[in-house]
Formats: sequence, C-alpha cells, structure tokens
Amino acid sequence: MGTGFGGNPIYNRASPSSHVRCVDAIIREFLPKGGRVLDIGGTEAGFRSQAALPAGSTVVIANPERGVGADYRYVSDIPPRVERFDLAMLFGVMMYLEREPLVGLMADVRRRLKPRGTFLVAEPNPEGVVGAAEILAKTIYAAIKSFWDPTKFNFYTVADTKGMLREAGFPNIAERSDLTPNRMGIFPPPQPPYYVVAARI
Ligand SMILES: C[S@@+](CC[C@H](N)C(=O)[O-])C[C@H]1O[C@@H](n2cnc3c(N)ncnc32)[C@H](O)[C@@H]1O
Repeated sequence: MGTGFGGNPIYNRASPSSHVRCVDAIIREFLPKGGRVLDIGGTEAGFRSQAALPAGSTVVIANPERGVGADYRYVSDIPPRVERFDLAMLFGVMMYLEREPLVGLMADVRRRLKPRGTFLVAEPNPEGVVGAAEILAKTIYAAIKSFWDPTKFNFYTVADTKGMLREAGFPNIAERSDLTPNRMGIFPPPQPPYYVVAARI
C-alpha cells in the first residue's frame, strides 16, 4: 500500500464517517436493530466512535494500518463462517487500490452481505476544478512523503465506480451524495467533496 494518508481525521473531513450527522443518517436508513456493519478502511476514531448504534449492533473494521483499532487487516482475512453484514462501507479507500483488486474486493464484499444488505462507497470526487487540484495535491504529497517509493493513488469517477460495482455483481446502484457532509450543511464545506454510491444485490 505504501505511504498512505492513514486514519488521520485531518485528511478525512469530507468523508461521511467523519460527521455525526452523516453517520446518523446512514444508520437510520441502512442498519436494522442488531445490525452488522463492515467498515473497510475504517478506524476506531471514525464511524465506530461517531455512531449511536441501535441495540445489539456491531461494527467490524478491516484495515491493514497499525493502531487504528481494526478487527481484521483485510476483508479477505474475515473467516467465511463470520455472520454476514447488513451494511458494508468503503469510504476513502478506493484511491489506494488498482482496478482489478478493487473489483475483487467489491465481489468479496457482495458475498459477505446479507441478501437485503447495502454496500456504500464514498470517495473524493476527482472531477471538476477541486477534483483536479486534489489529484495534484495528492501526487505532490505522495512524492514528498516517500521520494523513492511514492504512494500510487488511483482516481475513480462516479461512472468508474458504478461500472466496477456492476462488474462485481451489484445490479442495483444509486448515487447517494445526499449522505455527504457537504450536502448536510457542514461548515466550512470540507474539500475535496466526496461522492457516495449505494449498491445492492
Ligand atoms: C483516507 S483513510 C479513510 C479512513 C476512513 N474510512 C474515512 O473515511 O475517514 C484510508 C484508509 O484505508 C485503509 N486501506 C488501504 N487499503 C486498504 C484495504 N485494501 N483494505 C482495507 N483498508 C485499506 C488505509 O489503511 C487507511 O486507513
């Protein structure tokens, strides 16, 4: 994975898991009582600490980064016998993954969801002027942070994400950028704005 932005919230203000308003809206819509959440690339300080979970609910974190309170390093490390999830989230992680392993991860998530479960994907939007500035900033940051082995960032548009989700076996896909802090009136508006896509089987 190389040098990443880590779970440092300073870089993640625009992620839905950084704001209690977004987390509450996500829980209300997608998490039943006793529901199970898989937070891929999540951190103890993110969704899990923001969430006022319905009784009996569980948040499982898969993240290879040390010290972020993860239960597993990768989704593929979760034993198949582990109960399936009502909600899986992949927020601000796609940028670290090349297309092929990313589609593989999405297909793995599909197998681990309950039949009526939802997969929410959120990512900085690389389109538009702010998106272009973000691409430049990340490229420079990666080069400075690790001159010899800079992190390779991958930038995926909403259309790219929908295409990959379809390929991974999700026929029902809807854009849900209403679940972002920017659209929920967080001030000042976090940059770069994220987009959110909801996928169902
Ligand atoms: C920018 S942070 C996002 C944190 C949080 N999800 C949020 O939205 O605020 C990206 C995180 O993705 C994690 N990550 C990178 N590749 C991953 C993978 N294959 N599986 C799970 N997590 C991964 C990194 O370790 C890092 O903690």
